[in-house]
Amino acid sequence: MKKTSALILIGSILFLTMCIRDTYSPNACFQEDVLPIFISNCTFSECHNSKEKESGFDLTTYAGIMKGITAKHPLRSEIYNTIKGSNPSMPESPYSKLSKKDVYTIKAWIQMGAKNTSNCKGCDTINFTYSARVKPLIQTWCTGCHNSSNPGGGFDLSDYNGVVSSIANNKLLGSLKHLSGFSAMPKNAGQLSSCDITAIQKWISAGNPNN
Ligand code: HEC
Repeated sequence: MKKTSALILIGSILFLTMCIRDTYSPNACFQEDVLPIFISNCTFSECHNSKEKESGFDLTTYAGIMKGITAKHPLRSEIYNTIKGSNPSMPESPYSKLSKKDVYTIKAWIQMGAKNTSNCKGCDTINFTYSARVKPLIQTWCTGCHNSSNPGGGFDLSDYNGVVSSIANNKLLGSLKHLSGFSAMPKNAGQLSSCDITAIQKWISAGNPNN
């Protein structure tokens, strides 16, 4: 009887661990999953961008981020130690701390060797709905700088209405395509992949449905 309970307990723990692992996708790709967390949460003006390099850190590039990372060893990585735990020192107030999911993504990427990987998932050329394609993309790359308490340029892109308001006057596509007359977005980063820009363009051409 005791043995069975112990086995059930161990089984449940293993099962729960697997669930958490799955939700947090440990196979993070640097360019698509890890870099946007840094760009969107750490590179505000006066912070860790290529111009100001606060505390010596430019977190807009792989080389810059690797200055604070020891591959395979999150706890020996200066950057990881500033974002982990219940009371992390970074990002500094008034900016929001990283979500648990983002901290886990960075930790998993360090544990897997902190490689400069890209295009891990291939291009989805079929699905361009708001909920499955546009929203996750904007949450990954943009909302750290475009939320209700920090609406960069006046734009809060954290919900559907906010994203729709940025479409007017071609602002959203103009800034994503780095056209002249618009501020190039995501700020402090290169252009999104053509796969991602095409998905947003297709969604807008379809009448930007809330689907
Ligand atoms: C590091 C912070 C940051 C990130 C990341 C960022 N933005 Fe911005 N965004 C700003 C700021 C600040 C402005 C105001 C103009 C300026 O300073 O360039 C702005 C302006 C804009 C504008 C108005 C452009 C214009 O020409 O009037 C749009 C649209 C926009 N952002 C969309 C986006 C989208 C979409 C993303 C993600 C793909 C994104 N931004 C990522 C900070 C950011």
